[in-house]
Amino acid sequence: MPSLPQILLLAAAAVATNLVCLATAATKPSSGCGKSPPTLTAGGNHTLTVNDKSRWYLLNLPAAYNNTHPYRLIFTLHAAGGNSSMVAAGQGGYLPWYGLPPYTADSLGAIYVAPNGLDRGWANRGGEDVTLISEIARSIKSDFCVDESLVFSVGFSYGASMSYALACGMAEQFRAVAVQSGGNMSGCATGTLRQPVALYGQHGVDGDLNITTARAIRDQFVAVNGCQPSTTVAPAVGSGSHTKVEYQGCKEGYPVTWIEYDGGHTPQPRDKGQTVTFAAEETWKFFGQFK
Ligand SMILES: *[C@@H]1O[C@H](CO)[C@@H](O)[C@H](O)[C@H]1NC(C)=O
Ligand SMILES: *[C@@H]1O[C@H](CO)[C@@H](O)[C@H](O)[C@H]1NC(C)=O
Ligand SMILES: *[C@@H]1O[C@H](CO)[C@@H](O)[C@H](O)[C@H]1NC(C)=O
Ligand SMILES: *[C@@H]1O[C@H](CO)[C@@H](O)[C@H](O)[C@H]1NC(C)=O
Ligand SMILES: *[C@@H]1O[C@H](CO)[C@@H](O)[C@H](O)[C@H]1NC(C)=O
Repeated sequence: MPSLPQILLLAAAAVATNLVCLATAATKPSSGCGKSPPTLTAGGNHTLTVNDKSRWYLLNLPAAYNNTHPYRLIFTLHAAGGNSSMVAAGQGGYLPWYGLPPYTADSLGAIYVAPNGLDRGWANRGGEDVTLISEIARSIKSDFCVDESLVFSVGFSYGASMSYALACGMAEQFRAVAVQSGGNMSGCATGTLRQPVALYGQHGVDGDLNITTARAIRDQFVAVNGCQPSTTVAPAVGSGSHTKVEYQGCKEGYPVTWIEYDGGHTPQPRDKGQTVTFAAEETWKFFGQFK
């Protein structure tokens, strides 16, 4: 019969083995791994037809794309009045690809996709924009090497609303979404979020889109992700600061982080005296915790 210390050792070994299994099982190489992409210069403009409508997106591959390396896949969605080119170039208020590439230039790397909305927005009529992104994801995953457990969406305003719609409609495909100054203009196919998806949210206390709706969206993630509700404190108007809450008790792998800032409707909110937005860094802190 094993002695007590031996039993503890065996138990520790079992836990360690499980941890290793979890870490390994977490990588889900897509069917595009090992495949040569259709053209090696596959970055740039891509077109497809969805519901009889011609649609397009910009694709940005890592400089030294390696077809056996499973990359993160990050969707970057423009706001109302925006387009894919503005997100890619960092024009009209955005940082290029929401300011994430400097952070994702690590050992994992990332493939970026900026889909273009219809009429410069994401009305998602009849779910057509969720279908678009689902089709793009399918095509990228089958042509390129993606870690299917590391798929993300970030967007500001209408792009945030659409990221919420993706969490509702494609929960099983998204590791996390970043809803920056979101509203509910793209809807939620399931009425309310039904499956857990990790959430990073930020919203200005005096933004154009009512913060009450943004908090209601957040609370759907808090509930479905199993987090304990928490009191959040809005920063005082005029303080030039932001407050951040990391919800506790969420299901493993489904955290929620929420920031309210003193300011209006902008993709690049800044604290008083700062020259750089906290949005990119905080979004990355959130996405980057998933390996
Ligand atoms: C991408 O191609 C589509 C379809 O030809 C076109 O409408 C769109 O303007 C192009 N985008 C860019 C950035 O060139
Ligand atoms: C490509 O990625 C694979 C898997 O991550 C790695 O083993 C290999 O060394 C990489 N090749 C190059 C040339 O970096
Ligand atoms: C994107 O919007 C900018 C600003 O309105 C415009 O100059 C540019 O032509 C648009 N690009 C495409 C491809 O529609
Ligand atoms: C968003 O709109 C949809 C209707 O499309 C509704 O079912 C859902 O509950 C709304 N979500 C929030 C947070 O108000
Ligand atoms: C935001 O919505 C809440 C609840 O519907 C409402 O009480 C409040 O007046 C709205 N705020 C603004 C600025 O429209």
